[in-house]
Amino acid sequence: MKPIFRAALAAIACACMAQFSGSASAQDAKPKHDEEAQSFVHGAPTDPSEAWTLAAGGRIYDNWWDALDRKKPASGHPSYPADGKGSGPNTWRCKECHGWDYKGRQGEYAKGDHYSGIKGIRGAQGRDPARIMAMLRAPLHGYTQEMIKDDELRRVALFVTKGQHDVDRLKDKKTGNPVGSSARGRALYQTTCAACHGFDGKLLNWGSKDDPAFIGTDSNKFPWEVLHKIRNSHTGIAMINFRALPMEDALAVLAYSRTLPRK
Ligand code: HEC
Ligand code: HEC
Repeated sequence: MKPIFRAALAAIACACMAQFSGSASAQDAKPKHDEEAQSFVHGAPTDPSEAWTLAAGGRIYDNWWDALDRKKPASGHPSYPADGKGSGPNTWRCKECHGWDYKGRQGEYAKGDHYSGIKGIRGAQGRDPARIMAMLRAPLHGYTQEMIKDDELRRVALFVTKGQHDVDRLKDKKTGNPVGSSARGRALYQTTCAACHGFDGKLLNWGSKDDPAFIGTDSNKFPWEVLHKIRNSHTGIAMINFRALPMEDALAVLAYSRTLPRK
């Protein structure tokens, strides 16, 4: 594309963004992406590999409106249990009902701030993706075309049927911590993640100044969430993922991340 045309497009995009941020609260404001990043974050390749498809499905599982650049739901999911600890639009995220470990009430969401009381999705592994898609359109889940289009729904169905990992097999039996080679993780981290997160993981903070959330913080507090993000990327931003690499590499990055400063 000619640079001048690209600049014109960027100007249009900026005008839309300005309008958007004018009407939305600061909290809802989305990061601005230039044209290339926009297609990486919200678009799809013309010849999607299985690795790309499963990671894209994993991001829909995490937060479909950020992953797909859709409108965030205005209120909570009608099927979210009354005794669940979650509330509001977040209860539309698959992870809020089924967990980062995919084990629902059998896993980390058996108690605590995210208790949902709902079954996990581990048992759906290997099932026909078409059945999962039909189930996600049925009233219990109620995902409409406006929320998640068919080809996108297929990605998350494929993630469910062949993209999940079994956290019980990735844990140290005694400590319950994720296994992994921190020595190998150091090499991987320093040559990939560090470009954006810094060598000490403190360049990006998604917490607050007093209560920071760095890679080192979250990989200790929420290891299965961080593993999900290493395998699938974070939503709505141009972050890399390790889906095409062996699970050992993702676990190694996680192990090294756990050695980084938490504060
Ligand atoms: C508001 C809570 C909620 C959300 C959000 C939610 N689900 Fe579910 N899901 C349920 C409930 C309830 C069931 C039925 C569990 C049962 O049969 O006991 C279920 C069942 C499932 C099952 C079948 C599990 C099995 O073993 O048969 C799969 C797979 C599944 N959901 C995937 C997803 C995906 C993918 C998303 C996001 C696109 C999602 N769910 C979002 C509540 C939710
Ligand atoms: C191209 C830049 C880039 C690279 C490379 C990158 N990240 Fe990120 N990552 C980001 C950005 C931007 C965010 C969003 C931070 C925020 O919300 O403030 C993020 C967020 C995250 C989050 C969680 C945010 C949350 O809100 O829960 C985790 C965990 C994470 N990254 C881990 C990693 C790991 C591990 C690697 C290496 C495998 C990595 N990232 C590589 C840019 C990157």
